[in-house]
Amino acid sequence: MKTKRWFVDVTDELSTNDPQIAQAAALLRENEVVAFPTETVYGLGANAKSTDAVKKIYEAKGRPSDNPLIVHIADISQLDDLTGPAPEKAKTLIKRFWPGALTLILPCKPGALSPRVTAGLETVAIRMPDHPLALALIRESGLPIAAPSANLSGKPSPTKAEHVAYDLDGRIAGIMDGGPTGIGVESTVLSCAGDIPVLLRPGGITKEQIEAEIGPILVDKGLSDQNEKPISPGMKYTHYAPTAPLAICEGSPERIQHLIQEYQQGGRRVGVLTTEENAGVYSADYVKSCGRRAQLETVAAELYDALRSFDEKKVDFIISESFPDTGVGLAIMNRLMKAAGGRVIR
Ligand code: TXA
Ligand code: MG
Repeated sequence: MKTKRWFVDVTDELSTNDPQIAQAAALLRENEVVAFPTETVYGLGANAKSTDAVKKIYEAKGRPSDNPLIVHIADISQLDDLTGPAPEKAKTLIKRFWPGALTLILPCKPGALSPRVTAGLETVAIRMPDHPLALALIRESGLPIAAPSANLSGKPSPTKAEHVAYDLDGRIAGIMDGGPTGIGVESTVLSCAGDIPVLLRPGGITKEQIEAEIGPILVDKGLSDQNEKPISPGMKYTHYAPTAPLAICEGSPERIQHLIQEYQQGGRRVGVLTTEENAGVYSADYVKSCGRRAQLETVAAELYDALRSFDEKKVDFIISESFPDTGVGLAIMNRLMKAAGGRVIR
């Protein structure tokens, strides 16, 4: 399949009259799959009402079929068609954070969506992305749009259109290139299906921000305990992984430098993932700096691009610094732990 590529100048005034958006939306209505930017990562969109369309997402990504998709909407009025009445706390969060990097799990209206979207669950994940291009595309399609991250299953999520093309060129109908995404890690997934909301995946909107609005929430045990099964099906898979094995080291830069030398003496090419503050400390086969530790948002924004860059450098082993698990640091550490398959050097 020839993958069409549109380059879109993203402005707040992007309208649905844009001919490129009209073309992409037409493909979505024809049940084809189109990648587009959101404020978190690029998504791989398809008509959430059509099983034919949704199947193409799973095929293009090589995604396990028991892992449900997030449905993206552009207007609150679309919610009524997809879910039962939202609990009060969910309503508060919607008012405060939509459009934005918060996905809510709500009871699904029977028959509203292709059963492939929810992977047979009675709940559905919904979010309204905060990106003018995503919103214009969804609006113009007139559909709820199912969209996982637009990467091959297991690879880091794409934060640039080039990442999408690298993974999926020839496998999907089109890619809308709107430049790099802003937040860089995926949305926060919060279950509002029970009495007390449960954090299933940390992301762009922090736990602290959510609790400031609705009080204490629970955190899925499966996020921190290797022996617990995560509630969110997607969280059980290895993810975001570069080709070379990665370990997170909790020690000082000096300790990490010592480790690098040990591995090099064993004949291995070693890469290190660090930040601007410490980059000068290391001597390794590849030193990749990723944002500033003093402002963790900058680390989140560059993390996936940094992880992908190790594949080109042909290193045999990667050591990453660790990060505090407050604010967006919780999402950064969650993704790094998955990329490392849980390997931590203490
Ligand atoms: O930022 C994002 O959320 C991006 C952009 C494109 O919007 N999308 C994204 O989708 O990250 P995906 O498919 O890569 O991750 C969706 C996560 C998975 O962990 C999945 O298991 C979980 O949400 N999920 C979806 N529906 C669910 C449900 N009904 N119950 C529990 N978890 C669910
Ligand atoms: Mg994903």
